Amino acid sequence: MAFPQPVLGPPAKAALFLTLTVAPGRETDVREGLRDLSGLTRSVAFRARDEALACVAGLASDAWDRLVGGPRPRELHPFTPLQGPRHLAPATPGDLLLHLRARRPDLCFELARVVLDRFGDAVTVVDETHGFTYFDDRDLLGFVDGSENPVGPAAPAAVLVADEDPDFRGGSYVVAQKYLHDMTAWNALPTEEQERVIGRSKADNVELPDGVQPSDSHVALTTVEDADGEELRIVRQNMPFGRLGTAEFGTYFIGYARTPAVTERMLRNMFLGDPPGNTDRILDFSTAVTGGLFFAPSADLLDDLPAPGPAEEPLAEPAPPEALLPADAVRPAISLGIGSLKGAPA
Ligand code: HEM
Repeated sequence: MAFPQPVLGPPAKAALFLTLTVAPGRETDVREGLRDLSGLTRSVAFRARDEALACVAGLASDAWDRLVGGPRPRELHPFTPLQGPRHLAPATPGDLLLHLRARRPDLCFELARVVLDRFGDAVTVVDETHGFTYFDDRDLLGFVDGSENPVGPAAPAAVLVADEDPDFRGGSYVVAQKYLHDMTAWNALPTEEQERVIGRSKADNVELPDGVQPSDSHVALTTVEDADGEELRIVRQNMPFGRLGTAEFGTYFIGYARTPAVTERMLRNMFLGDPPGNTDRILDFSTAVTGGLFFAPSADLLDDLPAPGPAEEPLAEPAPPEALLPADAVRPAISLGIGSLKGAPA
């Protein structure tokens, strides 16, 4: 098995999630930056060896084709947006996802700084979310988040690609979504009702028993099985984030899986409903504002990402002969570019 990126690290106290887009024509620079990522991580991690600094990088489907040559991960495709009867899971821009974790936020910050310095203006940060641990691993809704993650040998079996796609052994599919909570509406619910929304008790974090568990609870709709009744698992490393001044209270959802089909099935249950229309009540209090699907190749492959062959290399957009154009003809194109970045989610 190829050595995986640290997708299964110990629970972190701090995380930093960066979503980046790659400037057209700068694919080679970014591919080389990605090859340097493990070395840069070692440089920062070595200065604080007990703090479990780790970084996972994932590439979105289009970015994979632009940056990487050779075979492509079998199940990598663009994130599928979902419009249910009441809730939307949008797909938002993002070529690369960097998931940095550590016991201390300064280490995530320092590594992100060094990595972004390495990429320079070949990338644009379209989302930057600083996550923190809230009490005993609670989300900002007040519930312990992450208890039902697989542990022991079940964890790598759930998240790492194996013989089904031999070129990509040790890789993992990552779904990332940023959610904002309506805390006023949530806090208006009595605790017993909140427990029926999540499907677990709030104080002691115990799953509600069958018969009491509502069919539209978060736990009910994200518990999925295969045809033989075996539970299908993912590993979630969600983190709360927020800004008090702008009343922003959120959960950064990040789920690693051996196949994106499992996470996508959970998302369909949540947003479209199971049966259709029976949607996840957590969504009545949480709005998805970003969405992306990425493939985190094994550490071995990331260190040595192959370049596309000459036939595959994307042709750089021919530079417009700006000097020959009147100034007004150039400016709109430039301001459109900036405008589209402004339109990207914060
Ligand atoms: C369980 C919170 C989004 C998949 C849970 C639990 C909480 C929670 C508190 C119960 C404790 C636990 O087992 O971790 C949230 C919040 C979300 C969110 C606040 C965003 C607003 C998602 C999404 C997915 C997902 C988008 C999948 C696509 C799961 C799964 C479980 C779970 C698989 C375990 C179910 C079980 O086996 O009991 N989540 N979650 N969650 N969540 Fe989420």
